Amino acid sequence: MYKIIYKKSLTPTITLMKVLAPDVTRHAKAGQFIILRVDEKGERIPLTIADIDHALKSVTIIFQVVGKTTYLLNMLSEGDDILDFVGPLGKPTEIENLKKVLVIGGGVGSAIAYPLCKALFEQNTQVELILGFKSKDQIILKEAFETVTNHQYMTTDDGSYGEKGFVTDQLNKILKKDQSYDHVFAIGPIPMMKAVSDMTKNYQIPTTVSLNPIMIDGTGMCGGCRVKVGDGIKFACVDGPDFDGHQVDYDALLKRNMAYRLKEQKDFEDVLKRGEA
Ligand SMILES: Cc1cc2nc3c(=O)[nH]c(=O)nc-3n(C[C@H](O)[C@H](O)[C@H](O)COP(=O)(O)OP(=O)(O)OC[C@H]3O[C@@H](n4cnc5c(N)ncnc54)[C@H](O)[C@@H]3O)c2cc1C
Ligand code: FES
Repeated sequence: MYKIIYKKSLTPTITLMKVLAPDVTRHAKAGQFIILRVDEKGERIPLTIADIDHALKSVTIIFQVVGKTTYLLNMLSEGDDILDFVGPLGKPTEIENLKKVLVIGGGVGSAIAYPLCKALFEQNTQVELILGFKSKDQIILKEAFETVTNHQYMTTDDGSYGEKGFVTDQLNKILKKDQSYDHVFAIGPIPMMKAVSDMTKNYQIPTTVSLNPIMIDGTGMCGGCRVKVGDGIKFACVDGPDFDGHQVDYDALLKRNMAYRLKEQKDFEDVLKRGEA
């Protein structure tokens, strides 16, 4: 059992939790994730390790309530237990020997961008960040990012904060003036990562994306998380979740993620009807 020692709503649909998990904190690095199961009847879902508190031996997770399991997780309170909390899983993000990078986080993808910015900043890489949200009330982690980046650009789709438009509008403006970045990291919705990768390919700037396919066992056995990268098939849980953004087949990834949508919607409706929580 893994105890929730802190819970905070960041927005009406995004929650931060700190979970006591000494076995996970020992080896976790930026880019890795955990797979949790709320209770014995629950599904397994992957969530990124957003931060580690070595003193408390806790792992921070930040999640958006989108369906059954994230809804049930969000109904838990400080002091409650999560049944399974397995990790760290996946390969850490490769960040060595980078002098100047641009990190792009979209929506809840910003939670995944945070540990990456922190790790880069701690090794003295110059970190510039573009954060994009639908509107001002969706913004998360702005102050936390200020301590781990050299410069921040903010965008909102509706213009209620920062520059009006998508992160790619900002990226376009930046790259027209400055192409001196060693690397770009993009983390967010699949169409956003595709658009970023298309743009950086034109400038030949190496780009890493963090993929979020459906995962089941998280051990490379079930094949649920397979993605097409270049000419090969990779498993995001063991080969990723980071991949070369210029090589990923985003259309196939979108199609696979949509395949379970009707069943997921039905499970969520059932749980709301039963008032399970
Ligand atoms: C390696 C990895 C790390 C992740 N890290 C985070 C994180 O830090 N914070 C966070 O909020 N989410 C993260 N996700 C996505 C998260 O796992 C899903 O939102 C969660 O599994 C949804 O479970 P559910 O039962 O609540 O909803 P479901 O009923 O399973 O899904 C509801 C709807 O959510 C969307 N959805 C579900 N799974 C995914 C997915 N993998 N990618 C994109 N959309 C999805 C679909 O539109 C679906 O119809 C991560 C996914 C992966 C693979
Ligand atoms: S989740 Fe089963 S192979 Fe990756």
